[in-house]
Amino acid sequence: MILKDRVAIVTGSGSGIGRSGAEIMAREGAIVVVADRDADAAAETVARIGKAGGRAESCPTDVTDDEALARLVEGTAKAHGRIDILHNHAGIQVAGTLEEVTPEGMDASWRLNVRAHFMGCRLAVPHMKRQGGGVIVNTASNSGVFVDKGMLAYITTKAAVIMMTRQIALDYAKYNIRANSLCPGWVDTPFNEPYIRQMGGRKAIETYVSGMIPMGRWASSGEIAEAILFLASDRSSFMTGHDLVVDGGEWFG
Ligand SMILES: NC(=O)c1ccc[n+]([C@@H]2O[C@H](COP(=O)([O-])OP(=O)(O)OC[C@H]3O[C@@H](n4cnc5c(N)ncnc54)[C@H](O)[C@@H]3O)[C@@H](O)[C@H]2O)c1
Repeated sequence: MILKDRVAIVTGSGSGIGRSGAEIMAREGAIVVVADRDADAAAETVARIGKAGGRAESCPTDVTDDEALARLVEGTAKAHGRIDILHNHAGIQVAGTLEEVTPEGMDASWRLNVRAHFMGCRLAVPHMKRQGGGVIVNTASNSGVFVDKGMLAYITTKAAVIMMTRQIALDYAKYNIRANSLCPGWVDTPFNEPYIRQMGGRKAIETYVSGMIPMGRWASSGEIAEAILFLASDRSSFMTGHDLVVDGGEWFG
């Protein structure tokens, strides 16, 4: 087990990629704190981990609420004595061009995609410094490494996560804290349901994805979990400030 007894917080882990990441970390021996604003979904992740023989606990949290986020991080540190891994994963996609994205849509994107990651890191880093190190994984997207039609708020905020993570990596390397961005491409999770509806259903999106992605398909959340495990574990021990793109070749353009 490559994460034996490590304490990990994963936000947005009630579904999709976050859940698969929580599950793979638990499989590798971590104690996972499942933080999702949907308490039932978080409880389901905890139950799945327990059924598989792993250790997890739920801490329902809306990560855009600073006080709730502080309760999550401080509560974890108090209960377990340390925070080895912080995976800031929860995010939002607001579609539209400059004129279509409302100021509210831009604010919501910034609040969840960037500010919540910032706050999570800011709260966890003092614990990581005190204990002699730690690992941060910030979910961005391959949408942070290129531009895409009609995706102003998403592209802007995901690119910001990548740069913020590089900067954290630079400033905190001397404390043995590594920080990397996870940049998935199309992953088959409920996150894309609005898009699927917009495109006219499952068949239409399958055609779009198979034409768009050089590998001709979506990723499963389990495939992205392998990248999360790599970033969260000592397997990436000399890697920091990196944006790990896992997208079946879409970023070639
Ligand atoms: N699925 C993809 O194709 C894809 C691709 C690239 C990047 N991403 C990124 O992955 C993240 C989520 O994707 P997913 O596929 O795992 O989605 P998902 O919809 O399967 O799961 C998202 C989870 O986040 C939770 N959540 C939403 N807002 C929250 C908040 N304010 N506080 C706490 N929890 C909250 C939801 O309740 C849900 O359980 C986002 O950051 C997204 O940008 C997804």
